[in-house]
Amino acid sequence: MKNIVIFISGRGSNFHAIAQNIESGNIPNAKIVAVVSNNPNAKGLQYAKQQGYDIISLSPTEYASNADFDKAILERLSLYEVDLICLAGYMKIISPVLTSKYQGKIINIHPALLPAFPGLHAQRQAIEYGAKVSGCTVHFVDEGVDTGPIIMQKAVDIMPDDDEELLSERILIEEHKLYIEAVRLFCEDKLKLKGRNVIIER
Ligand code: GRF
Repeated sequence: MKNIVIFISGRGSNFHAIAQNIESGNIPNAKIVAVVSNNPNAKGLQYAKQQGYDIISLSPTEYASNADFDKAILERLSLYEVDLICLAGYMKIISPVLTSKYQGKIINIHPALLPAFPGLHAQRQAIEYGAKVSGCTVHFVDEGVDTGPIIMQKAVDIMPDDDEELLSERILIEEHKLYIEAVRLFCEDKLKLKGRNVIIER
């Protein structure tokens, strides 16, 4: 059984998708043990409450630094046996406090085909650049921003009349499928890291 912790900051639709697929048995061997948020008003926390998940909700403004904030999260997470951390719309950069403790155990979903368009507003960046294709990427998290080893990617065409919202909606549909598949493979121990390369053993 893999114990999963989900980090969210907002809507939490990826969290919802993962949780539902665990519930339905589509991701066997997995259990969500806690949901972490850096935003007490995150909409996704309502769902976490309804489902009765443990919630760790902290306000970054109460901590002197990013590292101190992550230390507080680490302290709380030490109560759990954590196998996997899924960043799901977590809008805060993870510090080495967490990346070193959970090396190879933190994954993220990004709404672009990395290494193109890292950081915020990836969908808008792709449109403004004039790209014809974007998509989403699930990757392991390292110390950089959206720089860790790529696990899986899915391309989504950019249409001539796309705006940020339209493209984000179409990418989100693929995010939910891709993230579930990546979590499932992780939980089945089918992802092997070889340097920067992620080998998928199907
Ligand atoms: C997603 O597009 C995710 O890729 C990005 O932020 C958005 C979060 O959506 N990092 P949600 O909170 O999972 O609905």
